[in-house]
Amino acid sequence: MRFDIITVLPQLLKGPLDHSIVQRARDKGLIEVHVHDLRDFSSDKHRRVDDYAFGGDAGMVMCIEPIQKAISHLTAQREYDEIIYTSPDGKRFNQKEANRLATVKNLIILCGHYKGVDQRVRDHLVTCEISIGDYVLTGGELAAAVITDSVTRLLPGAISDETSALTDSFQDGLLAPPIYTRPAAYNEWKVPDILLSGHAAKIADWKHEESLKRTRMLRPDLLD
Ligand code: ADE
Repeated sequence: MRFDIITVLPQLLKGPLDHSIVQRARDKGLIEVHVHDLRDFSSDKHRRVDDYAFGGDAGMVMCIEPIQKAISHLTAQREYDEIIYTSPDGKRFNQKEANRLATVKNLIILCGHYKGVDQRVRDHLVTCEISIGDYVLTGGELAAAVITDSVTRLLPGAISDETSALTDSFQDGLLAPPIYTRPAAYNEWKVPDILLSGHAAKIADWKHEESLKRTRMLRPDLLD
């Protein structure tokens, strides 16, 4: 799977995508991540990619021209399944959307900045708009990193224990049950007996019950 990320701040994506599971997935050839500096596609001598908003509103707007050039540069080389624009007013990202994106081959993620992009980019150039939550970030780079990370860990072979991505919170619409490791007793705090019983079916029932309990308590909206 290939991610092409278009941004005015390439260095912001360095940390999150150069470590841990995402870096290992890159090393194993499961994914390719290419970060493109939008300023490389500017025709302005100062490499500017933004301008004042028409209508007298405060704040700068990302211009359509460099964005169109960057996207065309990529789409001329291969087909893309989605061209995503990250924005607080996009569709809220969730596990279902991560699962869907994990089945595609090539993605472009355009990171929003300043006041956002010229509306014509949204109307004509991108195929979907994603928000990672109802709050405003200084730019879409962290959102692009969140999307790339959550999709990458779902790819077969990205996580060493392949079943572990399938038992994550949200994968079955429920929060994950509590988990424990050694020691079985830490001072007076004990691991539930059932987990030490070795009885696989009973343990599975217990986990499901705990998942339900947790979801009811913390995220009842997931059960609606
Ligand atoms: N850019 C700024 N805030 C954002 C958010 N919440 N999600 C996606 N992109 C953003």
